[in-house]
Amino acid sequence: MSKEHTDMPKDKGLDHTLQLLKEGYFFIMNRKDKYDSRIFETKLLGEKAICLIGKEEAALFYNNDKFSRKGAAPGRIQKTLFGQGGVQGLDGEEHHHRKAMFMSLMTKEHLSEIQNMTKEEWRKELNNQSEEVNVYNTSKLILTRLALRFTGVPFKEEEAEQWVDELSDMFENAADIGPKHWKARMSRNKAEDWMMDLVERVRNREVQVNQNRALHQFSFHTDLQGELLDKKIVAVELLNLLRPIVAIAVYVDFLVLALHDYPEEVEKLKDSDKEKLLHFVQEVRRYYPFFPFTTARVKESFDWNGYNFKEGTLVLLDLYGTNHDPALWSNPGQFYPDRFEEWQASPFDFIPQGGGEFDIGHRCAGEWITIDILKETLDYFVNEISFEFPTQDFKFSMNDIPALPESKVEIRNIKVK
Ligand code: HEM
Repeated sequence: MSKEHTDMPKDKGLDHTLQLLKEGYFFIMNRKDKYDSRIFETKLLGEKAICLIGKEEAALFYNNDKFSRKGAAPGRIQKTLFGQGGVQGLDGEEHHHRKAMFMSLMTKEHLSEIQNMTKEEWRKELNNQSEEVNVYNTSKLILTRLALRFTGVPFKEEEAEQWVDELSDMFENAADIGPKHWKARMSRNKAEDWMMDLVERVRNREVQVNQNRALHQFSFHTDLQGELLDKKIVAVELLNLLRPIVAIAVYVDFLVLALHDYPEEVEKLKDSDKEKLLHFVQEVRRYYPFFPFTTARVKESFDWNGYNFKEGTLVLLDLYGTNHDPALWSNPGQFYPDRFEEWQASPFDFIPQGGGEFDIGHRCAGEWITIDILKETLDYFVNEISFEFPTQDFKFSMNDIPALPESKVEIRNIKVK
């Protein structure tokens, strides 16, 4: 290292994986405070890692010339959450081309269809409900039906529950170790097998599918060489739509928790004002924990603000911490949807689903879908039904990934207004 380099603050000790599991969403924030630095070095899973937190740091992280995604996600996460060979691990032209396959689904027509499906599914499930309802489990079921409809995967009503289990395992147990990790891997293998079989039948014209749906589009998508994708890759990418749509249940659960915890904010939503609904949803995505951080590797060695980033080094960008950075958000620990009236819409400060650009960057392909589903859900819960919260344990733990209220939120006495 040349002498103009500054030493990065560095975690002492051999490995900090256990501390990461213990401190969960606060791991990077705690060290930012301890070292008074938005950049520091640690060791995770036996490997040196640089951690970043903040807006400028996010802008650096999303510079494609400096970082690569190849081999950035830990193997155990690929084998559960993402799948292997999917868009998350691609770079450059190959990534851009594959990402376009996802983004071509995010049209105004499709988004408005998703909005309608969301209300339809909630009405079907809750309008005649006389029993107590677990919001998390019910959301997973209605989102599974919505995801299968949206992607064009044929299913019978009674098969939806099976899909809920396999798809949920992939995101609920991805960060676990031991038996839960293996259960998640088994669910992924099973779901990939189902999808591969389906893709083959679509390609052989043995099943009729709507040409505008992802199942058809992805099955016949060609790569930069003009070749059809391997059917396993198509399966992984279809699951990259199905799984995260079901995972929106985590945000739905927090959204309904927010209805319980912040009644004064709920009052502002009572006339279905679109802007107010949006700001509430944005604050749910900012305030509550979901994805703790995202990862990349240094493409070629470079210097930044006097610090040296060596080729191949693993780099973590703190998503939760950046959304709670007091330099960017006043009173970040307060749930305050109106803050979004002032927000300047930077791609690097509000990053619950990643930052930067959608097409040439790795920002979440499903961010608009997520926002729309949450907005419709919020409108339904506030303006279409009334309900009560029985006594329950709403606490959630900041070292569970994903975090969820202990009771997963129960409601009862549901009535259509
Ligand atoms: C449930 C709420 C969601 C959360 C919290 C979330 C979060 C994220 C995050 C953090 C990333 C990685 C960003 C990065 O590495 O820079 C990501 C990428 C991605 N997400 Fe989401 N997501 C959600 C919903 C969705 C939905 C509904 C879809 C699809 C309909 C989706 C599809 C994707 C895809 C395909 C990528 C990879 C993009 C790329 O590598 O270019 N996500 N998401």
